[in-house]
Amino acid sequence: TPDITSSCKEADYGIKNLEKVVRTRKCCPPNIKKTIKPFVFPTEKTVKVRWPAHNGSKEQVEKYKRAIQAMKDLPEDHPHSFIQQAKIHCAYCNGGYTQVDSGFPDIDIQIHNSWLFFPYHRWYLYFYERILGKLINDPTFALPYWNWDNPAGMTIPEIFLNDTRTPNPLFDIYRDARHLPPQLVDLDFGGGERDTTSEIQIACNLSTVYRDLVRNGADTKSFFGGEYVAGDAPVANGDKSVGSVEAGCHIAIHRWVGDSTQANFEDLGNLYSAGYDPLFYAHHSNVDRMWTLWKSLGIQGHTEPTDPDWLNASYVFYDENEDLVRVYNKDCIKMDKLKYKYYEESESVFPWRKSRP
Ligand code: C2O
Repeated sequence: TPDITSSCKEADYGIKNLEKVVRTRKCCPPNIKKTIKPFVFPTEKTVKVRWPAHNGSKEQVEKYKRAIQAMKDLPEDHPHSFIQQAKIHCAYCNGGYTQVDSGFPDIDIQIHNSWLFFPYHRWYLYFYERILGKLINDPTFALPYWNWDNPAGMTIPEIFLNDTRTPNPLFDIYRDARHLPPQLVDLDFGGGERDTTSEIQIACNLSTVYRDLVRNGADTKSFFGGEYVAGDAPVANGDKSVGSVEAGCHIAIHRWVGDSTQANFEDLGNLYSAGYDPLFYAHHSNVDRMWTLWKSLGIQGHTEPTDPDWLNASYVFYDENEDLVRVYNKDCIKMDKLKYKYYEESESVFPWRKSRP
């Protein structure tokens, strides 16, 4: 549990060439004097349906752009502003907070590379989506997901690209120029370019998804990641305890999209800057969807952790009403209680199901 009300510091963890950063390392939340409220489950009837970014309706795309633009138009120090929302990731991931609330003021909090990865990002997107919905006054507003597990979604979705006629709020300049469409994503990207045909790349990608959801994610800890509890030092990327999706498709996409000509592969290629690319949230929406798909495979062993250390781990976020709320892992397990779900065309849910590597 971070003490976000008083103990935030400048981000330094995992950032190289400090003088060459293109985003700020001052990532602490604004106006932090408020009290922290307990989380209350949403009571509305509507369920938000997240949609595939390569296949959104005109209306979905238009609302999404309008909402992101509204977020960008807020004063920078507003807790809902685009920049503040991006900084949340930096503060939780690059040494902004310590474990002071648990009695370890000298140990940083790191929500990556362990079993906190899925629940933390689920909550982050939950609030992000509701804030966007509130900004355009639309209770049905739902985020898109970058459907990279489906051949039709294996490029950066068009809606995020530069538009020479009208400025696109979903565009970000810090992306690798070699990886714009029609270049297919490499879900097993490790830094080296793979010179291959589309057919082979698609086949590799499908096997990589299979690898992360089935072969390497056979039980709770291999899928979610290893135990990380109060008093533990931050776990480094590459450590054995990183969950299969996090270590696999997830990180590959971060590295593949981030601009390799920048010192820290900004934006997506480093955690401190990742939230500045709107694509980050669509990517993580699909990562979150992997959790759901993994469960729906119905394979024995595909269950969430039941350890109280996991269930009771918590984070603090600004909600759509600008209240600070504390949320627990145990309350994000059931998506229907959070009133959102993923749009699924039945035949295309598991295009990789027969792609055993
Ligand atoms: Cu918090 Cu994809 O990283």
